[in-house]
Amino acid sequence: MRKPVIAGNWKLFKKTAETADLVNKLVPLVKNNRQVDIIIAPVFTVLSAAKQALSGSAIHLAAQDCYWQEEGAFTGEVSPGMLVDVGCSHVIVGHSERRQYFGETDQAVNCKIKAAVAAGLVVLFCIGETLAEREAGRTFEVLRTQLSGGTAGLTTTELEKIIIAYEPVWAIGTGKTASNEQAQEAHAFIRSEIAGLFGNGPADMVRILYGGSVKPENIKGLMAQKDIDGALVGGASLQADSFAAIANYD
Ligand code: G3P
Repeated sequence: MRKPVIAGNWKLFKKTAETADLVNKLVPLVKNNRQVDIIIAPVFTVLSAAKQALSGSAIHLAAQDCYWQEEGAFTGEVSPGMLVDVGCSHVIVGHSERRQYFGETDQAVNCKIKAAVAAGLVVLFCIGETLAEREAGRTFEVLRTQLSGGTAGLTTTELEKIIIAYEPVWAIGTGKTASNEQAQEAHAFIRSEIAGLFGNGPADMVRILYGGSVKPENIKGLMAQKDIDGALVGGASLQADSFAAIANYD
């Protein structure tokens, strides 16, 4: 019913030569994997090199962010249309590191999502609570706010272009993966929220990924959960063999 997605967020790593090296190693390792949508998200400067190295592969190319204007006096920004122009089919929006370090708001995320969908991109829409919010019992409140803010004004047709990524901030880069039960509880809540916002049909179809210290050792347990449809992988995506092991989990 929902095709699984395994996406690699490379963050601020890999220049051109390293990008070609990783992609050239990854492509043969996953070439027979048609059961999963596989995505890599390198930095802006190597997107063209990555696209060239991916030639002939079913692996999708994503950027890690975008702006919400197509062109204009916005120094330093990159538009969704420019990402399509360089070969991207996907884009990550609202990653917790952009919210934490660059002050990205739910409103900004909403603008970016709408602009990216309008440009024809599929959006990996990131949400997740901090440790302080979880320990204060505010996890569901935070997820509800992020979901409603990020998807404000979207139609059910536009929602079809959204993949949600639940990334508890306390699990990102820490090695402290959420337990299968914790992740499933959050994913089930997210799906119920989407049902409330868009209806049961769209909620059943939307794919919800887990992110936060996903490794080859824990992917199977996560994917066995009813409402987990894949993973957004950071550190483990920087090595071809570990990312392939995650993508080939089944
Ligand atoms: O976007 C995915 C990333 O935030 C998860 O990072 O290193 O915990 O897999 P990591």
